[in-house]
Amino acid sequence: MDLFATRRSIRKYTSQEVEGQMVETLLKAAFFAPTARNLKPWHFLVIDDRQILTELAEEFPTMSMLAGAPLAIVVCGDSEISEDFWPDDCAAATQNILLCATQNGLGSCWCAVYPRVERMEGFVEKFQMPEQIKPYSLIALGYPDETKQTPERYDPARVHYNGFKPAAEQ
Ligand SMILES: Cc1cc2nc3c(=O)[nH]c(=O)nc-3n(C[C@H](O)[C@H](O)[C@H](O)COP(=O)(O)O)c2cc1C
Repeated sequence: MDLFATRRSIRKYTSQEVEGQMVETLLKAAFFAPTARNLKPWHFLVIDDRQILTELAEEFPTMSMLAGAPLAIVVCGDSEISEDFWPDDCAAATQNILLCATQNGLGSCWCAVYPRVERMEGFVEKFQMPEQIKPYSLIALGYPDETKQTPERYDPARVHYNGFKPAAEQ
């Protein structure tokens, strides 16, 4: 439970590089994610080039934390392998990377690419992605330079046993 509770979106990072071994650990965690029909329709684009990270921060305002991040992983789906479930499969892989990052002392932030068409098109063009490769999320990563508290989030009002009951009966 600690792992889930301590994972927060971290947008400030120290200048410490993320070691290659750690990147491989994050990717291995991603590949353990469940996928529809076990099709595993992913591609992972690792970005550790300072200039590209800075460009992304400038081009995509929702990813401005990349200006100070040493690493990003773009999770992509292959629509030729899984036409309809690639977004779900990419979401599962994204969450695995976030939790693995927390477990290993890294800060991370999930940044949406899909379903924002202009962001998807921007990534396809920038990284020369083939037609069937769909950029889904970008995960900013680095050693954390901010701490966040764990808020209480469990909400029994959003939990329903055996059906949704009319409000009067709750
Ligand atoms: C699908 C999705 C898209 C998100 N996109 C962005 C984003 O583009 N930029 C950003 O800074 N945070 C983004 N976030 C992070 C959320 O803002 C964050 O998860 C939320 O505020 C809850 O905070 P926590 O992650 O610390 O629990 C995204 C999260 C999800 C799940």
